[in-house]
Amino acid sequence: MEWMIGVCVVMGMLVMSWWILLYGKKNDEKTVGKGKIPKGNSGWPLLGETLDFIASGYTSNPVTFLEKRKSLYGNVFKTCILGSNVIISTDQDVNKVVLQNHQANFVPAYPKSIRELMGEQSILKMNGTMHKKVHTLIAGFLRSPQFKARITRDIEHTVKQCFASWTPHQPIYVQDQLKRITFPVLVKVLMSVGPGEELDFLYREFAEFIKGLICLPLKFPGTRLYKSLQSKDRMVKMVRKIVEERKKLMRDNNGDEEGNAVNDVLDALLRDKGDSSSSAGLSPEMISQNIIEMMIPGEETLPTAMTMAIKFLTDSPLALSKLQEENMELKRLKTNCSEDYSWTEYMSLPFTQNVISETLRMANIVNGIWRKSVNDIEIKGYLIPKHWCVMASLTSVHMDEKNYENPFKFDPWRWEKIGAVTGNNSFTPFGGGHRLCPGLELSRLELSIFLHHLVTTYRWVAERDEIIYFPTVKMKRKLPISLEPINA
Ligand code: HEM
Repeated sequence: MEWMIGVCVVMGMLVMSWWILLYGKKNDEKTVGKGKIPKGNSGWPLLGETLDFIASGYTSNPVTFLEKRKSLYGNVFKTCILGSNVIISTDQDVNKVVLQNHQANFVPAYPKSIRELMGEQSILKMNGTMHKKVHTLIAGFLRSPQFKARITRDIEHTVKQCFASWTPHQPIYVQDQLKRITFPVLVKVLMSVGPGEELDFLYREFAEFIKGLICLPLKFPGTRLYKSLQSKDRMVKMVRKIVEERKKLMRDNNGDEEGNAVNDVLDALLRDKGDSSSSAGLSPEMISQNIIEMMIPGEETLPTAMTMAIKFLTDSPLALSKLQEENMELKRLKTNCSEDYSWTEYMSLPFTQNVISETLRMANIVNGIWRKSVNDIEIKGYLIPKHWCVMASLTSVHMDEKNYENPFKFDPWRWEKIGAVTGNNSFTPFGGGHRLCPGLELSRLELSIFLHHLVTTYRWVAERDEIIYFPTVKMKRKLPISLEPINA
């Protein structure tokens, strides 16, 4: 019996390899206009080049996998990873076309487990007019000066509360601790929930929910995905209640500008009255789902950026000292006139902004952007066949010595020469085009406030730790540091 199973497995693998080879060959020959499928290797049957891809995430150089293929096949190459044929672009012009997506040739591509955890009408999944509308509502609110002025106080308060819970000279695990700043701020931004039972509930359930983001896509009682979906249901139920209360408040305050001010993302979505594409506004169910789903890109990215800033500054004493000097100067000014800090003051410290840009460039928190083509598309002479995945690698552009001299060196001073950080195709930590991260300015503000209070309150010693790049960027030991108050 066992030998029969063995023969069947081998036969199955042979058929599969033959099919992959044949399919790959057929596609290799495919052309549209002058375009040709990029060169590359599909690797082993079934596995493709997945093992090599993962192994590269555990080395100190996050671009080994990409660099090796780039030198063999050019800036754009094909491979087969994580069960899909993928075209990887390390070319900033090709990336730009993919991200801009002017002809609507690409749709977002996520692993099945993530797709299962997102609702059908999630901002991360939706396309076209509806996506544009939801994105504009959220981004418009998060960009508004009124919002930034209000959230500045909340961020300062949360940072100070977190610092107050740290014991000097005891190890603090930065990677975990910083979520105690970013999560409450995120929940406040999304739906104005402050510290208390509701926030604790969301913190617990969200931690359970995101465990399912990378797991086997099996959905029945007992599986990881099932448990995560249950956590999501519980959170959506809670948010639904808040949505209903808000709607009632809006009806009661009908016409009252003051009472109906837009205080959070939830308000911004509720104010939508509908248009020609949708006769009514967004449904309460859709709003509740999206509020939870917006926590996915917001929750892990920012504490990781803060952690990496501490790591890079620890390893670059000169940069740390310059950062401290600039921030101490502002602190002295503010103490002398005993005024509150404004968000523009935090954001206009030039060296601090350069430290943030350099951290985002080197940390590559979102290492690449995944899309799926809905048509055969030709970009810069490369053909991307219909239904293939494309990964626009942000890391390889950020770590390319053609764009950045000595790219592995943490050098905030380089930004004095590079200048403006917007409209630059070789610096896209927040993506680009219609899906440019709406949390961009909030993230920079939160990073600025955090760094200001950290370097003007403490000096620290970090234990030895390493950066890991797979499946997401993080510190192997969560970056333990011990702090000493500066005026002690
Ligand atoms: C350092 C921190 C952050 C980084 C590096 C980052 C990076 C990104 C990137 C690269 C994308 C584009 C994804 C794509 O094109 O598929 C994105 C999208 C998004 N980000 Fe962020 N993000 C950060 C913080 C945040 C925060 C704090 C929030 C929440 C307020 C947020 C909310 C979103 C949302 C909702 C999207 C989806 C936009 C859309 O598809 O229309 N992000 N982010």
